[in-house]
Amino acid sequence: MPYKSSVRLDQLPAWRTLLEHRDEIAGQHMRDWFAGRGANSRVENFSLRAAGLYLDYSKNRITEKTRTLLTHLARECNLPAKRDAMWAGENVNVTEQRAALHVALRAPRTMAFHDASGDVSHGVSDTLSRMRAFSDSVRSGAWVGATGKRIRHLINVGIGGSDLGPRMVCDALAVYGRHDLSAHFIANIDPTELARTLPSLDPESTLVVVCSKTFTTLETMTNARTIRAWFVDHGIPESELGRHFVAVSTNAEEAVRFGIRKENVFEFGEWVGGRYSLWSSIGLIIMLYLGARNFEALLAGAHAMDEHFRHAPLEANMPVLLGLLGVWYRNFFDAQTLSIAPYTDALQKLPPYLQQLDMESNGKSVQVDGTPVAWQTAPIIWGEPGTNGQHAYFQMLHQGTTLVPVDFIAVLEPQYDAPGLLDHHRKLLANCFAQSEALLQGGSMATAEQAGGPLGAQRRFDGNRPSNTLVIDKLSPERLGALIALYEHKVFVQAAIWNINPFDQWGVELGKTLCRAIEPELVDPDSLRSDAHDASTASLIRLAGEALKEKR
Ligand code: F6P
Repeated sequence: MPYKSSVRLDQLPAWRTLLEHRDEIAGQHMRDWFAGRGANSRVENFSLRAAGLYLDYSKNRITEKTRTLLTHLARECNLPAKRDAMWAGENVNVTEQRAALHVALRAPRTMAFHDASGDVSHGVSDTLSRMRAFSDSVRSGAWVGATGKRIRHLINVGIGGSDLGPRMVCDALAVYGRHDLSAHFIANIDPTELARTLPSLDPESTLVVVCSKTFTTLETMTNARTIRAWFVDHGIPESELGRHFVAVSTNAEEAVRFGIRKENVFEFGEWVGGRYSLWSSIGLIIMLYLGARNFEALLAGAHAMDEHFRHAPLEANMPVLLGLLGVWYRNFFDAQTLSIAPYTDALQKLPPYLQQLDMESNGKSVQVDGTPVAWQTAPIIWGEPGTNGQHAYFQMLHQGTTLVPVDFIAVLEPQYDAPGLLDHHRKLLANCFAQSEALLQGGSMATAEQAGGPLGAQRRFDGNRPSNTLVIDKLSPERLGALIALYEHKVFVQAAIWNINPFDQWGVELGKTLCRAIEPELVDPDSLRSDAHDASTASLIRLAGEALKEKR
């Protein structure tokens, strides 16, 4: 089991050689590596295709030697064995003693997966069949609401992994959605989303999918109860709510206790982590909105990336290379963040989705055995679709004092092809390529007279700022599946290098516990004990408690 012990990553031979190598190339400019006859071969050498995606990573501060050393590091960190252990269903989530088998959710039926308790594949295909039957009945109109009306509105109630993935996919692939169905997402405990969404919906034709792995999450349960009351307030009797509510959970008992019929609970395995769950029944709203065929294409695209990750040599392995490049900047150039710049509004929810995937997985300070890490782990993930980001924060990417690697994502085929829109798309792509070129090359916007003076300095771009460009021919379900799986495996690669467990999230628990104590104190500020909190928190509770008292 390659997962149990602590390592001194910074003492590994490849790590030490990488440090020396970093010093060798730190003063060099990427632009020189593109000069002359070597230019085309650099692109050939530092680009690859996998699962329908094309990655150009030539605009990075790397040479062939860097790549070789980084892959040595991956081997010294047992990456291949760790990857195989995940596939073999070992308890790679060591703190929760669970497998992490999301790859089983998108594998063809002919592939069998097991965890410590036995076969998991049958359960996966049974659930998929149930999802398909249910979604077909809703989409065909066979499933109707309590008053006989066809379902026209879908609401997914969930948060974190039970929201971000399905929300991102439904938004990205909305052009594949049925025009007579609308998909809505309620996540936050803040009632704004509810208050804005419910009035525009007809309860008689609304179906709610309550999505929660645990079925105990405060936000989801509070929102689900409020929506249940909304149905009743609009004349749907409690006894008929089964036609308007289904659940997705590993905790069927709790879902039934909430009032959802047992036959309308779609379960999944404990070995599916929240942020890796959109491929499971957590993706039910995706299937309802886009149809079973498109959901299956999403799975197939992810599986194609899984196969690539499992079989391609490390030097030509897209998730491995993306992960290692991230390690290169995070640990050897002290880059604290990674900016995600999708050049399509369809992927506007990709950055928040990747925030959870990356930061909840790898935002850790201890190794798998609990000993502290002596190296940096997850970067801060952030970003906005281009070109909007260019008019907001790209200034800092070009001329700021912080090194920010960027992942550009370009889609060649426009999603909308109405007359005149091709021109928009051409301009969009031109912007995307111009930004990575400017980051690489740098240059000067100064006139000859300005060049030597202070204005010359203001108008100078140093360049040498790294980026990847991922190119997708078409934002189809299949390609989106591959793209998401690419980032999942990239995060796994980095966890393997940093020797951390990417599949738990203990860091979210303390705040949840403290919240349970604070809520009653807001109801009754007089119950606040003087020693219950630090002075700052206590005074905030008092302040809010008094304000809320006036509202009662
Ligand atoms: O609070 C974090 C978290 O546990 C995430 O890991 C998870 O995706 C989210 O909450 C939602 O959890 P659940 O699906 O159990 O409601």
